[in-house]
Amino acid sequence: MSQFPIIRQRRLRMKAPIRAMVRETSLSKNDLIYPLFVIPGKGLKRPVSSMPGVYQLSIDELLKECAEVFALGIPAVILFGIPEHKDEVGSGAYQDDGIVQQAVRLLKKEIPELVVITDVCLCEYTSHGHCGIVKGDEIVNDASIKLLAQEALSHARAGADMVAPSDMFDGRVAAIRTILDENDFVHVPIMSYAAKFASGFYGPFREAAQSTPQFGDRRSHQMDPANGDEAIREVAEDLAEGADIVMVKPALPYLDIVRRVKDTFHVPTAAYNVSGEYAMVKAAAQNGWIDEERVMMETLISIKRAGADIILTYFAKDAAKLLHS
Ligand code: PBG
Repeated sequence: MSQFPIIRQRRLRMKAPIRAMVRETSLSKNDLIYPLFVIPGKGLKRPVSSMPGVYQLSIDELLKECAEVFALGIPAVILFGIPEHKDEVGSGAYQDDGIVQQAVRLLKKEIPELVVITDVCLCEYTSHGHCGIVKGDEIVNDASIKLLAQEALSHARAGADMVAPSDMFDGRVAAIRTILDENDFVHVPIMSYAAKFASGFYGPFREAAQSTPQFGDRRSHQMDPANGDEAIREVAEDLAEGADIVMVKPALPYLDIVRRVKDTFHVPTAAYNVSGEYAMVKAAAQNGWIDEERVMMETLISIKRAGADIILTYFAKDAAKLLHS
């Protein structure tokens, strides 16, 4: 039986300071990681058409951008590299003078306190756009994870604070942990893209990172959007292999997975508010159909409420500015 009118849920909603007192979830700048795309060249700041406000940046421009990010109080960036040349085996990914390696060295020298995370994958570096080595129509697992481990090691050597494998091959976290430890990088954490789904929401990213597969798709390694139990198995496997932070990706269509992962494992959990999620908000706002700031903050708080500790988002700068004021 209802306890109305004794109980009135609206009592605590009448005044802003009381609403603030009973607010259950909060968003902090410390929760945010800002993704950035680095390209060869000088003085380049190329807009990504499907992601208003996002650019491909040459290293000098990247440094300026990171100075701004750091001044805003955002603790970390994640770097994606677009190399000068692509080949079958993604050589640009694990060269000591590769684009990401150069960028990391400069950033750690100029802004040492900014946490620099590197995305570890081959898709931006291979001529075919796949995340690993291809034989016939198979994306090969075991040979690919050796290259990913080389890539992670070269990022660590350049000074990366953390590496983030985004491929979804089996055994990559263990391969990376092993090679880092053998080379005295025992304190470099791994943030694994642990439950990464084969998603249409990555569309705009592939323009930004120039990583669209030339044939086939990523369904033989990324997860089926219909699967939740399997996401738990994926996360369990990555933790057993030594992952320090686990990520669910994309964020919004998979908030149930974020919640299950947090409740099951009680480990630092990240969620990637991906390019398509960002592009939809930007497009609707440009049309005057939604209030961009409001929808952005509602989106980010929903990801926190679902259980994420960390959010990778192209909104990081905009959100940090609002959190400032
Ligand atoms: C793979 C990678 C992708 C994203 C991050 N890392 C794309 C993919 O798997 O095709 C997507 C991020 C986004 O959409 O914002 N290196």
